[in-house]
Amino acid sequence: MSDERLFTFRNRWFATSVLGMIGIAVVSALIGFVWLPSVHRDEPFTGVWNAICSAAGVPRSWYAGEGGKTVEPTVTLTGVEVTPQLLVNVNASAVGRGATLALRCTMCHGERGMSEANSPNLAGQYASVIYKQLIDFQKGARNNAVMSPMAVNLSDQDMRDLAAYYASLPRPPAQRKVSASLAPSIVSHGAPMRNIAPCATCHGGIDSKAGSPWLDGLPAAYTKAQLTAFANGTRTNDINEVMRNVARNMTPDEIEAAAAYHARELDGH
Ligand code: HEC
Ligand code: HEC
Repeated sequence: MSDERLFTFRNRWFATSVLGMIGIAVVSALIGFVWLPSVHRDEPFTGVWNAICSAAGVPRSWYAGEGGKTVEPTVTLTGVEVTPQLLVNVNASAVGRGATLALRCTMCHGERGMSEANSPNLAGQYASVIYKQLIDFQKGARNNAVMSPMAVNLSDQDMRDLAAYYASLPRPPAQRKVSASLAPSIVSHGAPMRNIAPCATCHGGIDSKAGSPWLDGLPAAYTKAQLTAFANGTRTNDINEVMRNVARNMTPDEIEAAAAYHARELDGH
């Protein structure tokens, strides 16, 4: 065995491996922190320093520079916080007052909250859903040429009372009961590979997530229009994009099938 020292830069092998390691580390850092992030054309990735910060996971506000500039959403988002406790304690006078206010709504939503004009049914809809949607129309988080003007002048109490009234009405009768086995696969199973949970995990009668509307009996044209609007980003009032993430990943055929199923239009086919 030679008595030459191993860990010294005079040892050619040692020097080569150390320099080689340093070289690999530098090249990987350049690829990971500079080259890959620079391929993105978003605002946080412009400039080498920003790219490095974002690759390193530094929160945006740290390097946002002048005035802590953050990326502002281009649309109005909902400001409503929906909790399971929202509007659970309603009294008879709220329902009565809501019934009077609802005289303005019958033209489109039907005399007892059942629409015959492809407007959504409101009878038996969760009070928290009606309340949230009215606020969203009023504040511009949800836009519709006929509904937005209807909501502008409602007071908070008006909206609470209207919600209480409509929630107290009986839901559409399940006159043509569609058996669960007829549910299209997108409704009953969702699409796990596309991150779509079965609709009933949020919209179901038993398993209902606060803020998810009751869908059964909604006119197919309405359901289809809403799913399409979520998918193409014209409806953006869903909290945390829950529905946009579902609808974006649905195919047009699945949207059609889900709309028909919830409208109970599948019987006899
Ligand atoms: C001129 C027709 C018209 C009138 C009057 C009207 N609405 Fe609407 N409403 C609609 C339409 C159409 C929609 C669906 C909007 C869309 O496609 O985004 C809607 C949607 C809604 C929704 C959302 C339902 C859901 O499932 O998301 C609520 C809540 C609502 N209306 C409540 C009311 C109330 C309360 C009144 C009376 C103060 C009223 N509307 C008056 C046509 C009308
Ligand atoms: C993770 C929970 C979740 C899942 C899964 C889900 N939804 Fe939703 N959906 C919501 C929420 C929450 C809203 C209410 C959004 C808002 O605040 O306006 C909504 C709204 C909707 C609306 C608009 C209804 C109206 O009256 O405004 C339709 C239609 C709808 N969902 C259909 C579906 C269908 C069909 C599926 C299954 C393919 C599905 N959703 C799966 C949570 C969910």
